[in-house]
Amino acid sequence: MPIIMLAAAAVAIAPPAWLYPQNMAAESPASHAPISVPGSRVTVDAAILHDRAQTVNWFPADQPAPPARVLKAKAGEFACGYCHMVNGVGHPQNISIAGLNADYVIAQFAAFRSGQRKAAQPGYIPNNSMTRVAGQVSEAEVAELANYYSKLRYRSLIRVREAAMVPRVRAAGLVWERVPGPPEPISGRIVELMDRPEDSLRHNPRGRSTAYVPPGSIARGRRIAAELGCMACHAQMLGGWGPGRSPSYIVRQLLAFRNRARTDPGAETMQPIADQLSLDDMVAVAAWMGAGTKASR
Ligand code: HEC
Ligand code: HEC
Repeated sequence: MPIIMLAAAAVAIAPPAWLYPQNMAAESPASHAPISVPGSRVTVDAAILHDRAQTVNWFPADQPAPPARVLKAKAGEFACGYCHMVNGVGHPQNISIAGLNADYVIAQFAAFRSGQRKAAQPGYIPNNSMTRVAGQVSEAEVAELANYYSKLRYRSLIRVREAAMVPRVRAAGLVWERVPGPPEPISGRIVELMDRPEDSLRHNPRGRSTAYVPPGSIARGRRIAAELGCMACHAQMLGGWGPGRSPSYIVRQLLAFRNRARTDPGAETMQPIADQLSLDDMVAVAAWMGAGTKASR
């Protein structure tokens, strides 16, 4: 594995392939079938699910009326809800943004635009897409969107489970998907899967997922978090950031701080913290945070 020496003392960690599923050839083909999601009264032509410029408001009563950009963008551009959902809960390949502090949201747009917020894995499509989105919206739109998403209630639809053996998976689009066959050893990975794979393409804001983590990682993560004082800052900060946050997203971000792919002024606080964590430590601390135990509140 290539190791890059950085100006700071810490050595970059090679991003593991399991953290960045990417296989656009395996995306489901478009159809014109009428489709819905469980519990919704809305039915649409399935073809629109492939249009990144719009997203379906499956549950209009679940949140206040969103700014236009959440549901619709110009042809070829991205609607926010297409990835983060109308209620901001996100899915494993992006992230929950509901309840995030509005100033933090605005700062992240600036970081994506200036190239100071990249993924540790070069060419990772979700990060590249978010960077493109940041270039498509005006300051006024960002302020309006930050205000909208910051007022939504943070909640998690992710369940964390320790498991020695996990389902076999393949990359489909930008997520992992179960494939037939006997379970296989987890081998230090986090395997995050939508409980119903169709919820991914349907952008279902009530879609639940399960994050499998290595046995013992939650307790180990609790010890690491106590030593490094994660909650001294995170219990109070960033709003919307807490138990149930996607463990694979957390590891992607810790690696981005560690490998100096996240370098905006706000990131400077996190870099020396990430420098003290091995990849296994990152997995453990992310498992603990995602598990949403009382201890992490
Ligand atoms: C193509 C999918 C996609 C679209 C559309 C999209 N995002 Fe994102 N967004 C992402 C991904 C992926 C990330 C995480 C990137 C990373 O890992 O660095 C992200 C990150 C963010 C973050 C930072 C979250 C955090 O906790 O640091 C904010 C805020 C955000 N997006 C807001 C928006 C808003 C507002 C819109 C609409 C203008 C939008 N996004 C549209 C994919 C998307
Ligand atoms: C001294 C305060 C402080 C401590 C301690 C701290 N953090 Fe952070 N953390 C921050 C700040 C500030 C940010 C926002 C960085 C930015 O603006 O880019 C952040 C961001 C993050 C993010 C990215 C969040 C997102 O939505 O993208 C993760 C993940 C994270 N921290 C995990 C941890 C973990 C795990 C620990 C303990 C091992 C920890 N932090 C300890 C201050 C802290």
